[in-house]
Amino acid sequence: MRFDVLTLFPKMIEDYCGQSIIGRAQKAGILEVQAHDIRAYSKDKHRRVDDTPYGGGMGMLMSAVPVCDCFDAVYAMAPKERTKTIYLSPKGAVLTQKKARELAEYDRLILLCGHYEGIDSRAIDEIGAEELSVGDYVLTGGELGACVVIDCVGRLIDGVLADESCYTEEIIEAGMLEYPQYTRPEVFRGKKVPEVLLSGNHKEIEKWRYLAALEETKRKRPDLL
Ligand SMILES: C[S@@+](CC[C@H](N)C(=O)[O-])C[C@H]1O[C@@H](n2cnc3c(N)ncnc32)[C@H](O)[C@@H]1O
Repeated sequence: MRFDVLTLFPKMIEDYCGQSIIGRAQKAGILEVQAHDIRAYSKDKHRRVDDTPYGGGMGMLMSAVPVCDCFDAVYAMAPKERTKTIYLSPKGAVLTQKKARELAEYDRLILLCGHYEGIDSRAIDEIGAEELSVGDYVLTGGELGACVVIDCVGRLIDGVLADESCYTEEIIEAGMLEYPQYTRPEVFRGKKVPEVLLSGNHKEIEKWRYLAALEETKRKRPDLL
C-alpha cells in the first residue's frame, strides 16, 4: 500500500514512518510512504505558501495554488485505481478502527496536512478530499494526524504484523477492548499474574480473556457496549 503525504514538514513524516514497524514494513516493500513538500510548488520567489484570509481575521491560510499544484504532480506519480484523498482536519468525522479498516481496502491514500489557520476551502473541494479528524481537539498541523492514519491503517495490511490475530484480538469485532495482558515476572510488587494464564488450559484461558475483555470494556469504555 502506498501513502503520499502532502505537507510543509516532510521530515516529520519521514522521521516517524522510517522507524519501528512502519519503517520495517517499508524496507520489506509492503508499505511505501512518500512525503512531498508543498513549498516546492510555490511560485513565490520567497517560497511563501500562505496568505491573509479574505474578510480579515487572525492568522494565515495556506493558499490553494501550491496545494493543488502539489496534489496534481503527486497524483500523477503513481496512478492506482483504488486511491483516496484525505484532508486531515478537525472538521472531519473522527477516525475509528472501523474507518481504519475501510481505508485499508485502498491501494493508495493521499494525505493532505494543513498548517496555520488551515487551507483555502477551494483546494479541498478541487482535489475531492474527504475530511478526517483524529480527535475532537485542535492540533497545530495535520502531520501528527497523517502519521496516526498511516500507523493504524498500515498495521492492518497483510505482512506488516507477524499475524492477523495481533490486531483482530485487540478490539474484537463486537467492539470490545482487549483483555489485560501480562509478561514475566510472574509476581511484580506483590501482584500475581492471574492463575488461569499459567495453567496451559487454552479453553479456560480463552474464556477468561473473553470475560476480562468484557469487564475491561464495561469499566473503561461502557459506550462501546
Ligand atoms: C490550527 S489547525 C487549523 C484549524 C482551523 N482553523 C479550523 O478551525 O478548522 C491547522 C491544521 O492542523 C490540522 N489539524 C488540526 N486539528 C486536527 C484534528 N483534530 N485532526 C486532524 N487534523 C487536524 C489540519 O490539517 C489543520 O489544517
